[in-house]
Amino acid sequence: MLVNDTKEKKPIPTSTVGRGKNAKINIAPTTSTWSDEYIQAECGDSLLAYANWPTPTTIVSDGAYGVLGFEGDTSDHLGVPEWYEPHVEAWAKSATPQTTLWFWNSEIGWAAAHPILEKYGWRYVNANVWNKGKGHIAGNVNTQKIRRFPVVTEVCVQYVFEARLDGLLLKEWLYREWKRTGLPMKRANDACGVKDAAVRKYLDQGHLWYYPPAEMFERMQSYANEHGNPAGKPYFSTDGKRPLTGLEWLGLRSKFNCPHGVTNVWERNALRGNERFKVNGSNGKAVHLNQKPLDLMSYIIEASTDKGDVVWEPFGGLFSASVASRRLGRKAFGSEIDPTYFHYARERLTEESRQYPLL
Ligand SMILES: C[S@@+](CC[C@H](N)C(=O)[O-])C[C@H]1O[C@@H](n2cnc3c(N)ncnc32)[C@H](O)[C@@H]1O
Repeated sequence: MLVNDTKEKKPIPTSTVGRGKNAKINIAPTTSTWSDEYIQAECGDSLLAYANWPTPTTIVSDGAYGVLGFEGDTSDHLGVPEWYEPHVEAWAKSATPQTTLWFWNSEIGWAAAHPILEKYGWRYVNANVWNKGKGHIAGNVNTQKIRRFPVVTEVCVQYVFEARLDGLLLKEWLYREWKRTGLPMKRANDACGVKDAAVRKYLDQGHLWYYPPAEMFERMQSYANEHGNPAGKPYFSTDGKRPLTGLEWLGLRSKFNCPHGVTNVWERNALRGNERFKVNGSNGKAVHLNQKPLDLMSYIIEASTDKGDVVWEPFGGLFSASVASRRLGRKAFGSEIDPTYFHYARERLTEESRQYPLL
């Protein structure tokens, strides 16, 4: 629960959206940004902001679910692809092969959006399931009426931005470069000092392909450049002048460090009590129904970035990914289009900076 920031101006209610307990008072924001060394949050359409943000190592998307979850959300999953397409395209323009995208959604919302993600070069890695447990439905569901099992999950799907060299996937490029040397495939095993793993893993063209570690890449490229047909040198080069180093090779891949013991099923209750950000004097009314748990946001950010890396949060809400990023020493850039939510987000970020001052 937040304390009042007495330095801020009192919000000015301007209108009310929605009905019943989900009714939301629209508030004119006092300012349209909040920033410190680790977070740059702004009120506005993220589509207009991307061009000003630095290259992302990770993008955390938590936008439309097709459930009318916020003003501007679509009314069913059929509208989801169109809603996301300009964002997905913009993300692809700014992404590098090191960029991971975490796509939060309902199962059907993700299924609908997946072809759009693929269309712009995002490669599916893993679907992670957030199981909120039975407490989430609290025995309140009339299954005869809904005619299905009650849903207590959301997904957070990991995508990477697939690297291509000369228009080829990395596995195809490796294979092509080796072939160009004129050396038999099996000599790649000699190059790597292994019995058969180089051919079986690094030059495989199917699902058994394995990304060569830096050391193995360097062995293959130096062997190829020493023993390959002199006419085709340099091999394993992107500029035609010198071969890639092992470090450069590693830079063609997204980062991933799995926190110990974490699997793709996240058993975690829906946000409760004080975890939910509340409006002062609201008798416990949650400010944003879609607020995500900080621990889940921390998992994904820690797994896919290093300290100092850039995290994008295009659909800020209360900026949970940005808060998690800041605590982890990452640099977050986010937008929230709704001035009311942004007003509360500023309160949250102000409180966060009070409780967790920068070192
Ligand atoms: C599902 S909520 C995000 C909740 C957030 N993850 C959190 O933990 O608080 C999606 C938010 O995206 C905002 N939004 C929708 N379209 C947007 C856009 N084009 N630019 C910025 N924000 C947008 C909505 O107003 C809504 O608050």
